[in-house]
Amino acid sequence: MIGVVSWLATANRSQASSLKFSRTTGNARFDDTDYVGSDACKDCHEDQFKNFSHTSHAKLSTISSWKDKVTGCEACHGPGKAHIAEGDPTKIISFKNKSPKEISETCLSCHAGKEERNNFRRGEHWRNDIGCTDCHSTHSPATGRNVAQSITFVGRANAEKPDFSTLHLLKVGEPQLCMSCHSEVKPDFNKPFHHKVLEGTMKCSDCHNPHGGFELKQTRLATGADAACIKCHADKQGPFTYEHAPLKTEGCAVCHSPHGSANPRLLKFSRVNQLCLTCHSVDHGVGNDEPAGPTHNQNAQYADCTNCHVKIHGSRTSPVFFR
Ligand code: HEC
Ligand code: HEC
Ligand code: HEC
Ligand code: HEC
Ligand code: HEC
Ligand code: HEC
Ligand code: HEC
Ligand code: HEC
Ligand code: HEC
Ligand code: HEC
Repeated sequence: MIGVVSWLATANRSQASSLKFSRTTGNARFDDTDYVGSDACKDCHEDQFKNFSHTSHAKLSTISSWKDKVTGCEACHGPGKAHIAEGDPTKIISFKNKSPKEISETCLSCHAGKEERNNFRRGEHWRNDIGCTDCHSTHSPATGRNVAQSITFVGRANAEKPDFSTLHLLKVGEPQLCMSCHSEVKPDFNKPFHHKVLEGTMKCSDCHNPHGGFELKQTRLATGADAACIKCHADKQGPFTYEHAPLKTEGCAVCHSPHGSANPRLLKFSRVNQLCLTCHSVDHGVGNDEPAGPTHNQNAQYADCTNCHVKIHGSRTSPVFFR
């Protein structure tokens, strides 16, 4: 609750910068009396008005802390008084000739204050001119139904699963949205073993923050943890008395292919020993000439390293991860 209140407070503060944005880039001069309210747009822009009225933006005017702020159409399009007088399209902020970055700035004037989107300007999407409206519609289509918009990889049975929905004003359901530009990752999700994104049981945004961030490949951090993965695989977090160093220093993806793999444990290599030997060289305790312990040769019976080194993610009792 406190979070909500303080966020709204930030949003109100940043409202001022939103107005500043209109003043510097818009066609209309900023002045309180230049605002006329969304109802004034209804008659001439029936479609936008009708679609918009279903969005959470339209409901802001009913929230008491937004009562004396500019909401509705003019929150994005700027003051409408001059425009409604003659319907002169040059007298209203139009996004027709604005760059994705400029459009995003309009949105960020209210939305930057939240952690989720604080780092939008540090993300790959921003850097590559992908703006808010490449993924979100502003006057959302009137239907809010959870129906997949494509049949390219969505069967009838799961077409209505929540993760295919167009919640949050998304232009299309999330997997389709991301795949429409990142088709290169699709084959990974078709490998024999994969996280079930195409099946609709999880989403790209469970692991990635589409709104940017500091982590490599815009992966998310789970609250108070190291990696997005911990949110669902909490037992891998530790702390362990005996940590397997690469988990902490390099992260899960040094051993796993998070999208999908030919290996049932989503390992980067089809065989476990191939993976281990990328770091543990043969003369680093796993070679034929290894005297102590078992024979660490690569005969089939020893190749499955995790048969003995069971607790490969870290152990509370064994420095060599036996239990
Ligand atoms: C008297 C009728 C009328 C009213 C009222 C009106 N508009 Fe318009 N608007 C027009 C006409 C005509 C155009 C130009 C033709 C078009 O693009 O549809 C236009 C165009 C626009 C455009 C597109 C400009 C462009 O070049 O892309 C926006 C945005 C817009 N109006 C927003 C608003 C908003 C917001 C309101 C309410 C504050 C509003 N209009 C009220 C008639 C009106
Ligand atoms: C959250 C910001 C936002 C709000 C609120 C908003 N618009 Fe828009 N509007 C946009 C953007 C961005 C575009 C450019 C096209 C796009 O990306 O959807 C646009 C485009 C338009 C256009 C040009 C034609 C079109 O549909 O592309 C009209 C007309 C328009 N808006 C009218 C309105 C009216 C009327 C309202 C209120 C009922 C409104 N807008 C509320 C952001 C907004
Ligand atoms: C006047 C301030 C303001 C502006 C400008 C604004 N928003 Fe919002 N928006 C809000 C508030 C407040 C909410 C409701 C709280 C929330 O969900 O974060 C919201 C909600 C949303 C949601 C969530 C909707 C849902 O159903 O979950 C999306 C997506 C969104 N805005 C996108 C945009 C985009 C894209 C733009 C720019 C084209 C934009 N907003 C411009 C204030 C604004
Ligand atoms: C690359 C696509 C993409 C871009 C670009 C993008 N978003 Fe989103 N946004 C999403 C997805 C996907 C979700 C749903 C995430 C989820 O379901 O948890 C979302 C959710 C949201 C939400 C609602 C969830 C919440 O945290 O309250 C808001 C508000 C929002 N986006 C605003 C914005 C704004 C503002 C911008 C531009 C600065 C933007 N988005 C740019 C994909 C995008
Ligand atoms: C409109 C096209 C578009 C959409 C839609 C889109 N992206 Fe992107 N994305 C890009 C571009 C362009 C880049 C930067 C170039 C690149 O690395 O491919 C990028 C970069 C990324 C990166 C960083 C890759 C890297 O190498 O650092 C990730 C992760 C990402 N996008 C995830 C997503 C997710 C998740 C979604 C869906 C919520 C999404 N994208 C939707 C165009 C898009
Ligand atoms: C289980 C978590 C997870 C899911 C789900 C996931 N990703 Fe990733 N993705 C990652 C991780 C971790 C990396 C970084 C891999 C690395 O460092 O080798 C990554 C890398 C990427 C990259 C960078 C390109 C590359 O191969 O390095 C893109 C683009 C991307 N993901 C897009 C997506 C899209 C689009 C979706 C949804 C269809 C998605 N991801 C779903 C975890 C995930
Ligand atoms: C949103 C929850 C979620 C997130 C986040 C997530 N996973 Fe998973 N993961 C699952 C589920 C559910 C399964 C098993 C069901 C399936 O096949 O989809 C799974 C399966 C796995 C498996 C195979 C497990 C087995 O039992 O054989 C590995 C390995 C794995 N995940 C690693 C990761 C890594 C690494 C990350 C971070 C990059 C990650 N996961 C992020 C939910 C998640
Ligand atoms: C040093 C390499 C390595 C790293 C780093 C690593 N894993 Fe694993 N992981 C493995 C191996 C090897 C297996 C297969 C174990 C087996 O065959 O029993 C495995 C299995 C798994 C499994 C499925 C079996 C199980 O124990 O539940 C999950 C889930 C998993 N890892 C998640 C993660 C997560 C989350 C991270 C990051 C916090 C991570 N792994 C980091 C090597 C690694
Ligand atoms: C990304 C590199 C990397 C991979 C892959 C990796 N390890 Fe390690 N492993 C390390 C590092 C670094 C240490 C710590 C070595 C040290 O402290 O001297 C370590 C420590 C160990 C230890 C504890 C004994 C020791 O030397 O400290 C065992 C046992 C071990 N690894 C087994 C495995 C097995 C089995 C696999 C394959 C499933 C594997 N490792 C994969 C990097 C890796
Ligand atoms: C048959 C059981 C078994 C298998 C299979 C096995 N190990 Fe071991 N491993 C051991 C034993 C026993 C030790 C010695 C433990 C000790 O010193 O207390 C050991 C020690 C290690 C150490 C630490 C060596 C050192 O210098 O202290 C590493 C690293 C290691 N194994 C990696 C591997 C790798 C990589 C594989 C797969 C190629 C593998 N092990 C397969 C039983 C096994």
